[in-house]
Amino acid sequence: MADRFVLVGPASRELGETVAARLRIPTLPYDFRVFPDGETRVRVEEKISRSTVFVLQSTYPPVDQHLMQLLLISHHLSQEGAKVHAVIPYLAYARQDKQFLPGEIVSLGVVSHLLRSVGVKRITTVDIHSAEGLALFSMPIYSASAVPALVDHVKKNMRLKDVAVIAPDFGSSKRGEAFASVYGAKYLQISKTRDSATGAVKMKASKLDVKGLDVIIFDDIISTGGTVTAAAGLLHEAGAAKIVAVCTHPLLVGDAEAKLRQAGISDVIGTNTVPSRVSKVDVSEVIASHVRTLTE
Ligand code: R5P
Repeated sequence: MADRFVLVGPASRELGETVAARLRIPTLPYDFRVFPDGETRVRVEEKISRSTVFVLQSTYPPVDQHLMQLLLISHHLSQEGAKVHAVIPYLAYARQDKQFLPGEIVSLGVVSHLLRSVGVKRITTVDIHSAEGLALFSMPIYSASAVPALVDHVKKNMRLKDVAVIAPDFGSSKRGEAFASVYGAKYLQISKTRDSATGAVKMKASKLDVKGLDVIIFDDIISTGGTVTAAAGLLHEAGAAKIVAVCTHPLLVGDAEAKLRQAGISDVIGTNTVPSRVSKVDVSEVIASHVRTLTE
């Protein structure tokens, strides 16, 4: 019997199959059903004791359902004696990595606790929202970077010239700088404030030298599109030529994509950590190349 398996979670069928194929690790079959009320039932018949199982499940919306599926599967496998390595391409709740207001729950800490309690021994994710979030986990966790793959795609597929890269808030500046440096473009910072009660976003920049430039707005997540839309407003005022939006996790909730188009964003791309119309960059090799470095 193989001593390593990939269990391709229901939220990440395509990506999981590709990762398993790249790693040449067999996938573990299971029976899966979502009842009309939203509850999930999973059945794994294979005996997997003493094996390592990579459970690959992204936790994009419906967030809690996908997270619960990951917990159910991981619990079962670890109870059966497998060593569970959770591969979570988009790790939900990573933005709530500290208490921003008194009384707020540090949700990522709870997710960490839940994963540990169902027996997860190791985690691999892609572009976690913040490095601080990693400290909330008591098991080894690694956040692989999708930046080189995204830059490669943009260079090959978007016809941009005289490029500047901006990150729309201070939190994403390190990733933005990395993107600009891999791209070989100049980097500019915009600062964002979000009203924690209403969620409304305000942007400002002391000096935005983008007249006539093509600008890439790079963020880890595009959710409602509010952040990118507000950044695009400033860039238009400052005379940018073309504006494109690039992110790792294109959650694109509700009418986010339409909002981005209306804001004059000419192209939007993301990775397949979250399946969507704009998920053009495949992160299977980003994940597989990290897993290959692991000795256990
Ligand atoms: C937050 O700090 C993240 O890095 C993103 O900027 C944010 O999640 C984007 O959300 P939205 O698209 O709803 O503005």
